Amino acid sequence: MEPVISANTIRFHYGKHHRTYVDNLNKLVAGSEFAEMSLGDIILATAGEADKASIFHNAAQVSNHNFYWNCLRPGGGGQPPASLKQKIDVAFGSVEACKKELSAAAVAEFGSGWAWLVMNGGKLQIQKTSNADTPLTQGLTPLLTIDVWEHAYYLDYQNKRVDHVNAVIDKLLNWEFALQNAG
Ligand code: FE2
Repeated sequence: MEPVISANTIRFHYGKHHRTYVDNLNKLVAGSEFAEMSLGDIILATAGEADKASIFHNAAQVSNHNFYWNCLRPGGGGQPPASLKQKIDVAFGSVEACKKELSAAAVAEFGSGWAWLVMNGGKLQIQKTSNADTPLTQGLTPLLTIDVWEHAYYLDYQNKRVDHVNAVIDKLLNWEFALQNAG
């Protein structure tokens, strides 16, 4: 992922942050009704339940990160495959406009969260979510995401979230994965 994301950032982000969400979730669900459930089912069963907030937060962060790593690839960015580009042109006018809206959402998210390209009943949209929240709980289909928690960029970019976001969009976004998710 270098030079867009350093090995050091991946070491902490994947090896510590993501890992901790997995470990916490496993501890929280051990022996409970959630122990044998899929991650997606845990998220839907605990969303909005105040007494299940810790389970939701950790399950959603595991899911968000599993998804996020697939959204990045060395040599990514550039143009989406033709069939996806067509859908993007319909929704946003152009790929450039789509990227601009995704970047703006990622930069505008106040505090920690995620920016998403999602499919809403066949139409593409940009969304942002706070903290661990995921579009899955709104019945939307995520195609791509960018993690804008500080742990995703602070070691490499410090306060310059916009530079990180634009470099990810230009050089790492995995449009083939987005196409797979679009079905
Ligand atoms: Fe993260």
